[in-house]
Amino acid sequence: MPDMLVKLYELPDFAGLLDELRGAGVEIRPAFSFEKRIVGDWITAHFSASWAAEAERGFAATPVSTLVAVEDGILLGFGSYDCTALGFFGPTGVREDQRGRGLGTALLGACLKAMWDKGYGYAVIGGAGPVEFYRKAVGATVIEGSVPGIYRNLLKAQPLEV
Ligand SMILES: CC(C)(COP(=O)(O)OP(=O)(O)OC[C@H]1O[C@@H](n2cnc3c(N)ncnc32)[C@H](O)[C@@H]1OP(=O)(O)O)[C@@H](O)C(=O)NCCC(=O)NCCS
Repeated sequence: MPDMLVKLYELPDFAGLLDELRGAGVEIRPAFSFEKRIVGDWITAHFSASWAAEAERGFAATPVSTLVAVEDGILLGFGSYDCTALGFFGPTGVREDQRGRGLGTALLGACLKAMWDKGYGYAVIGGAGPVEFYRKAVGATVIEGSVPGIYRNLLKAQPLEV
């Protein structure tokens, strides 16, 4: 999975989508620090423990750099930035039965806008799985030669006796 590059100075305007979702009862916002356990456990259950560890890194930042999609107190999805590495977007994920509602695009757009506001000119989507999704949503382009990128010589789960 290659990394992708996003021009933050040419981001589409996501305000309409965010308003539409708000009207439908879904808020996209930074998580609160006291929600860290809920978010981490949810990501582990729906995705993986390593994605949870990355997203939990965002709770050390001010403002928190893990954003959540919330409807009636229920977590539907999340997106993180400055977690895997500085300047990186991700991980991100939407609950399987909620996909296709625009939540993934809204989380992506809100995170990238936050990165622009923070002062970045470009964002990197680390190890982009759904390349077409990112190309279509924000005009992201594949970074040639970015496999395995930073993801090399990674630790495996360690036997306890080692
Ligand atoms: C990728 C993901 C976050 C998208 O979330 P979502 O809420 O379904 O996205 P949206 O509803 O905003 O989709 C917007 C568009 O992208 C398309 N799209 C969604 N997922 C896609 C994928 N994996 N590949 C290609 N296109 C995709 C949708 O079909 C939709 O197209 P449309 O506007 O023509 O209908 C979600 O599919 C997911 O959680 N995937 C598993 C985790 C993952 O791969 N995370 C990314 C790691 S880099």
